[in-house]
Amino acid sequence: MSSEHNFVLHNWCVPAEWNAPTVVGGRGARLLLEDGRELLDMSSLVECSNLGHQHPRLVAAIRAQAEQLSFVTSAWGAAPRKALAERLLELSGFEGGLVFFTLGGADANENAVRIARQASGKPRGLVVTRDRSYHGASYMDMALSGDSRTAHQVDSEAWGVRRVPPPYSYRCPFASRSPHDCGQRAAAAVAACIDAEGANRVAAVLMESNAGSNGIVAPDSYWPSLRDATRERDVLFIADEIMSAFGRCGEWFAWQRHGEQGRPDIMTLAKGLTGAVAPLGAVVMSAAIARRIERQMFYGGLTYGGHPLSCAAGLAALDAYRDENLIERSRRLGAHMFKELQKLQAHHAVIGEVRGGHGLFAVVELVADPATRAPLAPWPQQADQQRALMRAALDEGVSFGSRGNLLIIAPPLVIDETDLAAALALLDRLLGRFFPASRVEQNS
Ligand SMILES: Cc1ncc(COP(=O)(O)O)c(C=O)c1O
Repeated sequence: MSSEHNFVLHNWCVPAEWNAPTVVGGRGARLLLEDGRELLDMSSLVECSNLGHQHPRLVAAIRAQAEQLSFVTSAWGAAPRKALAERLLELSGFEGGLVFFTLGGADANENAVRIARQASGKPRGLVVTRDRSYHGASYMDMALSGDSRTAHQVDSEAWGVRRVPPPYSYRCPFASRSPHDCGQRAAAAVAACIDAEGANRVAAVLMESNAGSNGIVAPDSYWPSLRDATRERDVLFIADEIMSAFGRCGEWFAWQRHGEQGRPDIMTLAKGLTGAVAPLGAVVMSAAIARRIERQMFYGGLTYGGHPLSCAAGLAALDAYRDENLIERSRRLGAHMFKELQKLQAHHAVIGEVRGGHGLFAVVELVADPATRAPLAPWPQQADQQRALMRAALDEGVSFGSRGNLLIIAPPLVIDETDLAAALALLDRLLGRFFPASRVEQNS
């Protein structure tokens, strides 16, 4: 049988080397492969299938909407779009605000920047983002992102983007001794960048609440300090919640962990918004932003933005998160998973740090030497043994997320507890097999 790569150019791959599984179905946290095998999905297919695969409620919602009304131009009204916008505003405490719907995450971030520039009266205002961030793969998003895969393709400065170092406390760019201090210094770097450019020239600061693609989980001190710094300078703050919302980080929206102090002016959503069963993104803006733009022309639009089928899926997804207590479940299982991963760290010297602990999202950083923190491979390369580990996991029916020397563990929030335990046991076994020399003997 000829392979799909003869016809399709896939994401993020060398086309001629494409060698990924082909999926024909799914149920819960499991995917059914073309060859009849099942695969336990420990990454929610790039942190988006929060509700698992083929959730019956979502499938039924799409079917019912398709029978009623499949499409109407995004410039006209549609009942599921209105209902979803109202629900999102209420859920996030942005009552009186507005929602602009997109097709996914990249266009949500682009439009968030456009809206922030319009609302701030700085049509070409600067946007401050950080290194080791990911906001999407369109040109504007590549400019916004501090991502090793795309940085060479675009001149960020020319797009009005200024980048600052990340709150990466394991390898703190400010040489801080404590995560708390690293978080504060990283936030101070944002403030310093705004001051250096002049707050009157900066339209917005755009940050991920947790960096899924680059594996950075900010210390608790970061977000509140950052938020205070932007408020004091009257610079709009956009939270990229595309990966981190809808229970992934233990809250509906990850910023909620910091209470009202952490509230952004604008947040962008996608992925878990529909549990990925239909393409949808959203820019949710506060009442204050809505008031600033409501009497101006908005020069932006997407033919399929807020597609009725996707909005129907979004409504069903919100119901499923609520009725199945999935936000709370993610918090509980996430705390357990984090402890189990820390136990693995105690056994396997190849684990330098386990990050996360809030919801079913964890990053495991692999190192050549935990004492010196020497990376297993220079970022963003990946060591052969890590590649072999991932391949062996797939052969054993489990798919973990992985990038560079990171393992990203982010299963669907509906994952069965026994499946979660089995996947972590497999990881333990495979770490021992592929990194035997670095195994720390117990009681030694
Ligand atoms: C934090 C974040 N922002 C933006 C995006 C881009 O979303 P999309 O792939 O839907 O364009 C992603 C996707 O991985 C993401 O994780």
